[in-house]
Amino acid sequence: EKGGWPSFMAKEIAEQPEAVANTIRGRAHDGSVVVPELEAIDDALLTDIRRIVIVACGTASYAGMVGKYAIERWTRVPVEVALSHEFRYGDPVLGPDVLVISVSQSGETMDTLMAVKYAREMGARTVSVCNTQGATIPRESDAAIYTHAGPEVAVASTKAFVAQITALYLFGLHLARVRGTLSTGGQAEAVAELQAIPEKLQEVLGEAEKVRQLAHWMADTRSVLFLGRNVGYPIALEGALKLKELAYIHAEGFAAGELKHGPIALIEPGQPVFVVVPSPRGAESLHPKVVSNIQEIRARGARVIAIAEAGDAAVLPFADEVLRIPLADSLFEPLLAVVPLQVFAMELASAKELDVDQPRNLAKSVTVE
Ligand code: BG6
Repeated sequence: EKGGWPSFMAKEIAEQPEAVANTIRGRAHDGSVVVPELEAIDDALLTDIRRIVIVACGTASYAGMVGKYAIERWTRVPVEVALSHEFRYGDPVLGPDVLVISVSQSGETMDTLMAVKYAREMGARTVSVCNTQGATIPRESDAAIYTHAGPEVAVASTKAFVAQITALYLFGLHLARVRGTLSTGGQAEAVAELQAIPEKLQEVLGEAEKVRQLAHWMADTRSVLFLGRNVGYPIALEGALKLKELAYIHAEGFAAGELKHGPIALIEPGQPVFVVVPSPRGAESLHPKVVSNIQEIRARGARVIAIAEAGDAAVLPFADEVLRIPLADSLFEPLLAVVPLQVFAMELASAKELDVDQPRNLAKSVTVE
């Protein structure tokens, strides 16, 4: 069933272009998005929503963090992201004007299921983003947006993650259309960016050999840090989680701006740091700030591995390695930037001869609270 791949994870990483394309299919028409499943919720209700809470665990929660930026930008509805197991014990403010979106690959994660049930009891509307047809969480929700990533076998999530981000973006564009918060041109541009992702993912996958070599050189590394800003921040967290899960290496992700408020004390000569560098294009770009973060850690001896847009020359003098991703609008970069981090974790685990599909102590779906 691995179809010639050394592991399910390798196969699932390679299936990401398809996972995104299949998740978009049938939901984008003529430059705007209609998610048919959302018709289960009255448009009037979608218009009345005043707040969105995304609940999820692990990798799915990072997809939620990425989704927050897009949904807020396009709809101006405030979005918060909560870990499912923290959510309902915090006495959250809920009611009919709150939409709770759960994100779960399996649709069976008990923490997330309990969060959804609680939200419903408290009168909130619920939408499930799920990869498993007919699973418990979508059945317990008012509407379900299925990610069509296909079955994910490896415990560590990869193709489901990019499909979850895609589904949240589709949700954001659907809501923006219903609420009239994004111009026709703005919607069309976003749809075109999303539709271009599968081909760009294919390009990123073409660079996997370079990442593999890097991982093999770094097989003895004991600690790796990950930095990102804005949509790159959850990608830094995901890069760190993947490395913990698969290679059992101490890894931490930080918001790059937070560095000077503490984590920079960790930097000593030789410390590997992955930096998710935003595109230098665009007036609002955080690129100069991230480049200055890179300079700060480089000056303290960090070994910098930059994930940067093709053609971004500003990172070259300060990075030990540069992994390239194709040009995309900054909001869509996470879908591309995560790939080298997935490959890195998988290859480093392989270099250590670990089981990448079944890491120790982990289960694909955790059905206890
Ligand atoms: C963890 C898995 O236990 O559950 C992660 O190891 C996953 O890979 C998380 O992201 C959430 O699972 P699900 O099925 O709710 O997306």
